[in-house]
Amino acid sequence: DVPRQGIIARYRDWLPVPPGAEPLTLGEGDTPLIRADRLLQELPPDRRPPAVFLKFEGANPTGSFKDRGMTIALTCARARGARAVICASTGNTAAAAAAYAARAGMDCWLVLPAGGVAAGKVGQAVACGARILPVRGSFDDALAAVRQVVAERPELVLVNSLNPDRLEGQKTAAFEVADQLAALGLDEPAAVFLPVGNGGNITAYHMGFSAYAAAGRLRRMPRLYGVQAEGAAPLVRGQPVDRPQTVASAIRIGRPVYGERALAAVRETGGRVLAVRDDEILAAQRLLARREGVFAEPASAASVAGLLKLAQGDEPGWEVPKGPVVCVLTGHGLKDVDTALRAARAGQGGPAPADLAALEAEALEPDA
Ligand code: F0G
Repeated sequence: DVPRQGIIARYRDWLPVPPGAEPLTLGEGDTPLIRADRLLQELPPDRRPPAVFLKFEGANPTGSFKDRGMTIALTCARARGARAVICASTGNTAAAAAAYAARAGMDCWLVLPAGGVAAGKVGQAVACGARILPVRGSFDDALAAVRQVVAERPELVLVNSLNPDRLEGQKTAAFEVADQLAALGLDEPAAVFLPVGNGGNITAYHMGFSAYAAAGRLRRMPRLYGVQAEGAAPLVRGQPVDRPQTVASAIRIGRPVYGERALAAVRETGGRVLAVRDDEILAAQRLLARREGVFAEPASAASVAGLLKLAQGDEPGWEVPKGPVVCVLTGHGLKDVDTALRAARAGQGGPAPADLAALEAEALEPDA
């Protein structure tokens, strides 16, 4: 087996890829499952699971989990003779669509909430030759516009997670979590924390773990915990949010398409949905980077913020798990360096004089 030939090569029997269709791949999947012992130490001793792992989806070719869905969506679209794809996006879907479309020789149209997408993601999409259409409003408005477009222009293939091929690809991350823990000789995952925007990815994990359970590869389903940002938490509030606000732009979504399915996934597995504040998200991002050396984008850090919140508080919905806990880090920190720099207040004092005394005073002092 040649490693890292992509999820279709690895899991084809589990995927709805037409026989004979040539995989369109960038070598996605097979991302690291990183043991996070220093993060574990942040949890109260009596409420610690046996181990915490980070499923680092930032290690995918375009830097997010979206590549898993896009390899399937574009492989199937190409097999059907499609020439162009379109999606609405908070950025990562856009970057992945642009890359896989470029590779397929297809046109790519991206409808983005103006001013609402991190620069790294727009930069990726532009570099890959996608056409960017900024619209006023939120991601939800952009998606509504795209749905109108595809109703009128059936030649454009929709590659949002409404496209069922996308979730099929994304479910392979759940396979990997189970396979990686088994390969390490560890227990099955007891709980999995995921950031939730549209609810597609947590639905995909539920599909993946369910498929493995049905095939006898898992004895029990892990509890699924969906984490939203407080200013964009329609599933926690039980109603849509018209003007979603959060520093975690990837999950700034007020009307999740897969809301019902996400809630069902959480309910069925004995997990829950919870909301975390922006300052908790940024603190978790910083903790991950400083304690574990893992730089994840703010939306991804929401999963860790959710774990910390549940394990530290006396919230309902947390029992000390008897197996490993996995936090899914959905996207790379390099996608959005502006937010990390702002959070660290970098450069605020201006450059220091170029001498030893100034450097020692300003820069060489380790902080907490
Ligand atoms: N984390 C990151 C980094 C994301 O980009 C997204 C979604 C999510 C989590 C949430 O996943 O929507 O399936 O619940 N990003 C989409 C996009 C909306 O356009 O890139 P979800």
